[in-house]
Amino acid sequence: MRLAHATDIHWFARPRLGQLAFKRVLGTANLYLRGRRHSFSRSVQRQLVQHIRAIAPDAVMITGDLTAQALPAEFEMARDDLKPMLDALPTFVVPGNHDVYTAATQRQRAMQQWFEPWMGLQDSGLARIDVGRLTLLGLDPNRATWLAASGRIPSAQLSALSKTLHDPELADQAVVLALHYPVVDRRGTLYDNAAHGLLNASELVSVLEDSPHRPQLIACGHVHHGFRSELRLSDGTSIPVCNCGSSGQAHQPDRRRAAAMAVYELRPDGSVGYERFVHDGTAFAPEPGGPWATGR
Ligand SMILES: [Fe+2]
Ligand SMILES: [Fe+2]
Repeated sequence: MRLAHATDIHWFARPRLGQLAFKRVLGTANLYLRGRRHSFSRSVQRQLVQHIRAIAPDAVMITGDLTAQALPAEFEMARDDLKPMLDALPTFVVPGNHDVYTAATQRQRAMQQWFEPWMGLQDSGLARIDVGRLTLLGLDPNRATWLAASGRIPSAQLSALSKTLHDPELADQAVVLALHYPVVDRRGTLYDNAAHGLLNASELVSVLEDSPHRPQLIACGHVHHGFRSELRLSDGTSIPVCNCGSSGQAHQPDRRRAAAMAVYELRPDGSVGYERFVHDGTAFAPEPGGPWATGR
């Protein structure tokens, strides 16, 4: 099974005056004054969709931050640009913290309004989509915050994940766990810092430690420079943790930034093959030096 991974595409629209909740005032100032709105490119975002269609994976997964400020205009752009891919390929979408940017967007379940058919949401909040022998599970640790960009996985989702990973029917499935926040950073250290991290990352690790059918791979985003590391478990085994890198970034070689995406080959023996494509200013191309060699 070949699974394509994109993340943090960040479609961006300028908020109208009435949409300027306090947090969006700060966010918009950040986007304009610090030039961050030039960090993302609509043409790269559209090329990403064409590229994924061209490589024709068995399934696609997007690990959140489709938008910049969870504005309806941003969700609409995201869905319009993604539509050719959503129509052609089984796709699994989990939200990121920018998709629940304000308390109102969280209350209104804005992400579901636009992407529910591709979210596989269950009552517990755990998400699941099955594509042949591939089982994609998703967590939603995102919540609207004032200033911090941290996340916390609700306990109902952790219980549902544990129950699912004990299901004997998962024994022959290739299981991939998708969530916006990295469980560990590029060095394999728990990513649970208060400003930007997954506050209860250790609780997720406990669930995985106790589960007989652990994921073959954990996919994440949130940190815009991609990396591949390992979540090391107490029994000496480990699970690869992959952040493909922000997939909608403009080509900015001076800032060592470029859009990236990855393709994982989930083999029946439990091993994983990796490919990564980085935008070279013209198109998505195989990463020079091999997957994650450039650090972008
Ligand atoms: Fe992001
Ligand atoms: Fe994020």
